[in-house]
Amino acid sequence: MNKYEDTYHRWETDPLQFWDDASAAIEWMRSPSIVFYDRKGPYGTWFSDGVCNTCFNCLDRHIIDGRGEQLALVYDSPITGKKSSLTYLEAKEEVSILAQLLLNLGVKKGDTVIIYMPMIPQTALAMLACARIGAIHSVVFGGFASQELSERINDAQPKIILSASCGIEPNRVVEYKPLLEEAIELSDHKPDANLIFQRTELAAKLDGNTFLDWDIEIAKVRESGKRADCVPLASSDPLYILYTSGTTGQPKGVVRDNGGHMVALKWAMKNIYNVNPGDVYWAASDFGWVVGHTNIVYGALLQGCTTIIFEGKPIGTPDAGVFWRVIEDYKVSVVFSAPTAFRAIKKEDPTALALEDHDISSLHTLFLAGERADTDTIIWLENNLNIPVIDHWWQTESGWPMAANPMGIQELPIKYGSSSVPMPGYTIHILDENGDSLPANTLGAISIKLPLPPGCLMSLWKDDQRFVSSYLDQYPGFYHTADAGYMDEDGYLFIMSRTDDIINVAGHRLSTGVMEDVLSGHEDVAECCVIGIADDLKGQIPIGVIVLNTTTIKLCSDIESECVQRIRNKIGAVASLRTIITVDRLPKTRSGKILRGTMREIIDGHDWKMPATIDDPQVMSEIISVFKTRSLLG
Ligand code: COA
Ligand code: AMP
Repeated sequence: MNKYEDTYHRWETDPLQFWDDASAAIEWMRSPSIVFYDRKGPYGTWFSDGVCNTCFNCLDRHIIDGRGEQLALVYDSPITGKKSSLTYLEAKEEVSILAQLLLNLGVKKGDTVIIYMPMIPQTALAMLACARIGAIHSVVFGGFASQELSERINDAQPKIILSASCGIEPNRVVEYKPLLEEAIELSDHKPDANLIFQRTELAAKLDGNTFLDWDIEIAKVRESGKRADCVPLASSDPLYILYTSGTTGQPKGVVRDNGGHMVALKWAMKNIYNVNPGDVYWAASDFGWVVGHTNIVYGALLQGCTTIIFEGKPIGTPDAGVFWRVIEDYKVSVVFSAPTAFRAIKKEDPTALALEDHDISSLHTLFLAGERADTDTIIWLENNLNIPVIDHWWQTESGWPMAANPMGIQELPIKYGSSSVPMPGYTIHILDENGDSLPANTLGAISIKLPLPPGCLMSLWKDDQRFVSSYLDQYPGFYHTADAGYMDEDGYLFIMSRTDDIINVAGHRLSTGVMEDVLSGHEDVAECCVIGIADDLKGQIPIGVIVLNTTTIKLCSDIESECVQRIRNKIGAVASLRTIITVDRLPKTRSGKILRGTMREIIDGHDWKMPATIDDPQVMSEIISVFKTRSLLG
């Protein structure tokens, strides 16, 4: 039996013993006596009577173990030209001061804190400071604009908001304070205070009352000598809420616990990513996504690694060699990024010339996730890097990989197009619409047998009912992933598409439904739909198709530009919606359902059939002719 099969079998045979063994890798304040309690939470709770603190396991324990002088956080910002680092000792000191400041500002265990910040070390310190005192953080991606932020403020009801004066993009400085103010204005809930980290690139005007200066407040605490200690927390106390796109307007607040999360991540860092204490781990993502939580902050630090905080882009900051430069400079062992980043590098530097200037011999594995990894990009990487390139599959909801090639257990043969095999904790079934399991190589709904393993979402923030209706109701006894795919005869999983309106734009998960809400809010738009079409660089990009009110007197082109701007202002430029097409009518079924899928097939150049249920086939010919005029058809 091979080592992977052996490990998976060990879990399948006795899951409680498996996770009990894994939990020994965590420093508990009180060890759990119950591994899984099935009567608490929508599907059960892991390590329910354990007492622990995630910040202690990320920082303090490594200092006790003699790693105090090792670098914990390395910040490299080619976009500003700045670099800095903190050892574990220094990181603990800074986190304890910030945590004390939060306490001074009235934040208590169980309160929520929103963190709306760019890729700077203060963001990681803020997450850890919350974890230290048992405050529940909710990081909001810095690329989201005011509407998205306000929805999260309304739902999470933060006691305070931590932010910065600006984010920095290659083509502009993004002022956060006006976005934050607008978001608070739009929200029913108002935070008590906002703590703003002033960046030298652009300072925000602060009133010293509800908008406080981070450095000034930190200096006061530093002088006071007071430092916050780690608070004992129940294993099932929430560590964080991370909002992710749902099929309807409201984002879903995924809730992660402390104990189960630590056990799963510690297991995954060794067994999947094959990193050890002292290794340098680089997840080239953003704190605002689940990868930023799991890989940049918690996973890397739980494992005693040095983690890289990279504020830049794979190309243009300054060039397509920046990833190789960072790997060389910090002797990175493992990189994790979205395939789109490497598609961008490959496009800019197809023969990987920039690699010749860098020694990347420290790198032993490259992991890809967040979207489908195309075979061309994987082969290009394999040929140029000469290391294993591992596609693996997970979601914000799972918090760690559901399927992977477990490099710390055994390197399995790679099959292009597949994210390899299920990890312990996950029994994956491919179901048909009746909930029956399908045979190998048959496309269906990818579903996970309950209960979910440690580390997965406990529920949605204050909304167990929505958790159940979104994930558990469709196939009783299973968690519904909303991904479609198949498993081959060797148990390898192939993820093919989403089954809902979520699209993946440059590794960013976005809802076309939310974009439709924004477009239909334009006064001249009578009807609209947003579809995700294939894109060589970003995997998918959205386009909007709109029908105007008959009374409209404005030029179509003006309305189209206003719609593009509306999406940028309300959701954020990250939505990458640059094309709006005006048509006279939308193709619909007789029951009034817009035929989004058929339009997508037409634009993507796939074979398509006129749906039998179409109300008026003539509308499809009209649409095709507009798509042709607008050069959307290859
Ligand atoms: N704050 C403000 N704006 C942001 C932002 C942020 N944190 N992140 C992105 N944006 C803006 C960009 O400035 C850009 O604006 P523009 O339309 O004015 O140019 C827009 O959102 C789209 O950004 P992006 O998706 O980054 O596209 P790009 O064309 O600038 O770059 C890539 C393309 C492939 C280089 C880039 O998408 C990339 O690095 N992708 C990797 C993503 C990733 O790591 N995902 C994490 C999953 S693991
Ligand atoms: P997010 O919650 O933002 O991490 O996005 C999760 C979604 O991204 C999944 O449901 C998939 O649709 C997609 N995804 C993640 N990893 C992969 C992968 N390796 N291959 C294909 N799709 C993926």
